[in-house]
Amino acid sequence: MYFLIKFIFYIIFLINSILCYNPPRRNFHNSVIINDRLLILAGEKNQSSDTYKLFYLNLSKSFDNKNLSWTLIPDGNLPIYTWHSTAIVGLDNFTIFLIGGYIKNKNTLDYDFSNQVYTYNYSVSKWTIPSIRGDSIPPRQQIKGVIDNSGIIYIFGGVNTTNLTAFSRLLYNDMNTLDTPSMTWRTLSISENLPLPNGDYSASLLPNGVIVYIGGEEDISWTLVNMKKIKLFDTTKLEWSYMNATGDDIDLRWQFSSVLTPDGDIIIFGGCTQKFTSVSPNLAVLDTNKSPYKWTISSNSDSNSLPSIYGHSANLYFNYIIITFGFNIDTSLYNSNVYLYNITSNKWITSFNPPPVPTTTSNTSTFTGTSSTSTGTSTSSTSTLTTSTKKSLKGLAIGLGISVVVILGVFIIIFTLCKKKEILEISGDR
Ligand SMILES: *[C@@H]1O[C@H](CO)[C@@H](O)[C@H](O)[C@H]1NC(C)=O
Ligand SMILES: *[C@@H]1O[C@H](CO)[C@@H](O)[C@H](O)[C@H]1NC(C)=O
Ligand SMILES: *[C@@H]1O[C@H](CO)[C@@H](O)[C@H](O)[C@H]1NC(C)=O
Ligand SMILES: *[C@@H]1O[C@H](CO)[C@@H](O)[C@H](O)[C@H]1NC(C)=O
Ligand SMILES: *[C@@H]1O[C@H](CO)[C@@H](O)[C@H](O)[C@H]1NC(C)=O
Ligand SMILES: *[C@@H]1O[C@H](CO)[C@@H](O)[C@H](O)[C@H]1NC(C)=O
Ligand SMILES: *[C@@H]1O[C@H](CO)[C@@H](O)[C@H](O)[C@H]1NC(C)=O
Ligand SMILES: *[C@@H]1O[C@H](CO)[C@@H](O)[C@H](O)[C@H]1NC(C)=O
Ligand SMILES: *[C@@H]1O[C@H](CO)[C@@H](O)[C@H](O)[C@H]1NC(C)=O
Ligand SMILES: *[C@@H]1O[C@H](CO)[C@@H](O)[C@H](O)[C@H]1NC(C)=O
Repeated sequence: MYFLIKFIFYIIFLINSILCYNPPRRNFHNSVIINDRLLILAGEKNQSSDTYKLFYLNLSKSFDNKNLSWTLIPDGNLPIYTWHSTAIVGLDNFTIFLIGGYIKNKNTLDYDFSNQVYTYNYSVSKWTIPSIRGDSIPPRQQIKGVIDNSGIIYIFGGVNTTNLTAFSRLLYNDMNTLDTPSMTWRTLSISENLPLPNGDYSASLLPNGVIVYIGGEEDISWTLVNMKKIKLFDTTKLEWSYMNATGDDIDLRWQFSSVLTPDGDIIIFGGCTQKFTSVSPNLAVLDTNKSPYKWTISSNSDSNSLPSIYGHSANLYFNYIIITFGFNIDTSLYNSNVYLYNITSNKWITSFNPPPVPTTTSNTSTFTGTSSTSTGTSTSSTSTLTTSTKKSLKGLAIGLGISVVVILGVFIIIFTLCKKKEILEISGDR
């Protein structure tokens, strides 16, 4: 009986932490969308926070951006701490490639750059260190990768912190690629027309195979890049070229986000100066259909109504840009809100309604999320009861009675705890 009670309390704790997971806020994390889930991983806060946990927002459900229900993936813990890394979903829409960053051993909390690439298999919720052929993989931070139609990930330049005590850093201008079908790393040998070393840029791969690199810090002098000085890398010819964009003036920045819309607009948001102060405008659009590309600051004043944020992430899901976490310069607090931008109306909105999704592949059912976890729970508690009550029928009846009461109780407790957490969350944000 004592065991049973202990067991039940453990289960309550487990279910509660899964169903209403309250993730630590963070900077310099990654977010990817797989099927209808916005997954958040890695990032920096401090070592006492669980930034190695993997969790998601269910995009098949409506939500209010002040009332979020994150779901923890219990088996999804990263084997390391990392921030300022890049995460890319493979062509199978099932594998996450996590590359680079400031990597720390989870146990010793020492920096450890011995592995640069980790892969996550979504269908079995498992991180592995893949074996990779080809060139040696340089340790890099403050990078952004993109993947092309043939499964090649391109990673330009970035930072290598050569002495982590003195925090001395070097910037690079090489182009590294990971061919994901063959798992081969290559550092491309390009000598012509090389750009200056650059990190913390934004990277967007256009349908014509050109990667557009914007902003960030550059050169040995670590100055911020003029936002109109665009670097272009043609993945079909493996050649660099440059463009002077036209249009509105955009403050120089780093640690900002970008998304590419189906119409060929690169929408950038947030970021900061090198002294971590705010930049203007908050949101700007680079139209890549124009030649040269053209910057526009939305005439809709609402577009720039958000607080100044850096170190956040942005994903495009149908018409929505979804901004998560980051650091709020205006309040000097980590941001816990999710911000939603409607790219059709150019407005920030507060509620998310799932777009009609075409029927997904049957493979999605292999995922073990909340629902199957709770099913697993009740199955195991039933089997525990069965073995312990084999002795007498009376015991069985009592056991069943208790289990019904307990299961009801569990749900009431979870519900109350969730509610309480929500209230605390909401009041905590103000
Ligand atoms: C580190 O994180 C813990 C737990 O989230 C928090 O209590 C503590 O204040 C944080 N420390 C700093 C220096 O931010
Ligand atoms: C996401 O939400 C939908 C709609 O409420 C639900 O059917 C589905 O089970 C949820 N998926 C997960 C993994 O939570
Ligand atoms: C928060 O969302 C849940 C559903 O996810 C809903 O039941 C609850 O009423 C919402 N709370 C507030 C304060 O809007
Ligand atoms: C992955 O997703 C993209 C976009 O939704 C789709 O076009 C593609 O067919 C998917 N690939 C696989 C292997 O399911
Ligand atoms: C993911 O795991 C499943 C089950 O072990 C396996 O069949 C599949 O090949 C794995 N996917 C990748 C990309 O490794
Ligand atoms: C990068 O920095 C590490 C130390 O953090 C150093 O061992 C390594 O040689 C550096 N790599 C390059 C390519 O500079
Ligand atoms: C790293 O920097 C520290 C502090 O400046 C210095 O004491 C140490 O010798 C440096 N380490 C290397 C390998 O250069
Ligand atoms: C961009 O403009 C500068 C002058 O401001 C000019 O020197 C440079 O050649 C231009 N670059 C391109 C690619 O047109
Ligand atoms: C986004 O804006 C378009 C155009 O105004 C509107 O039709 C659509 O309903 C909006 N979507 C959301 C989710 O607000
Ligand atoms: C789904 O599973 C089928 C067979 O089980 C496989 O042929 C197909 O490629 C899988 N799709 C994805 C997106 O993994």
